Amino acid sequence: MPETSTTTRRIVILISGRGSNMQALVEACRQQGWPASIAAVIASRPDAAGLEWAAAQGIATAALYHKDYASREAFDAALAAEIDLHAPDYVILAGFMRVLTPGFVNRYSGRLVNIHPSLLPAFPGLHTHAQALATGVRVHGCTVHFVTPVLDHGPIIAQGCVPVLAGDTPEMLAERVLEVEHQAFPTAVRWLAEGRVTLTNDHRVDVQGDPDRLFTWSAAA
Ligand code: GRF
Repeated sequence: MPETSTTTRRIVILISGRGSNMQALVEACRQQGWPASIAAVIASRPDAAGLEWAAAQGIATAALYHKDYASREAFDAALAAEIDLHAPDYVILAGFMRVLTPGFVNRYSGRLVNIHPSLLPAFPGLHTHAQALATGVRVHGCTVHFVTPVLDHGPIIAQGCVPVLAGDTPEMLAERVLEVEHQAFPTAVRWLAEGRVTLTNDHRVDVQGDPDRLFTWSAAA
């Protein structure tokens, strides 16, 4: 059971691109006064646009480029070394577009959290919005979950749901899902920062205080 005292938890965020989820986390942490600090933002590519924004906020940044490494294991080892410089309590994958090795995932077991743009277990992997449209589901969304060695799988902390509307393109649906990502993700990471999240023996998640863990998109939001 994590301590819910005044501990300040250290968070490292991993990104691959524009970093709008990372930005939502940083802003919520500051504006809501989480008992946490964003210790670093680390990108899987040097041209990740989010790096510039994070650096402008005074956050430590770093980038590793997978093409500079001979293997997935070598990249993950270098990534872990960079992360460990910041001694994080939690490592948050915010649009981090790389499959991680089991060694990396196990190193951060119980401390590694991802957001995936679908209602898992539906649509793991890429192109989730096109997959949703192709199957005709009427509801789609996002999932914040602990990471296990199985891709886009693991104990669910929170989900956000959006309707699929007539005439939606993958881009329109992605935009709607992103809005609910920006609600569900900061709230779920805040629960982590507050030490309220535990994993149960049957691989489910408990959140102290039993808050609503389903976020629902509304057109007015
Ligand atoms: C988000 O939809 C995230 O769920 C997915 O990729 C997108 C990243 O967006 N994995 P951003 O970089 O956070 O803006």
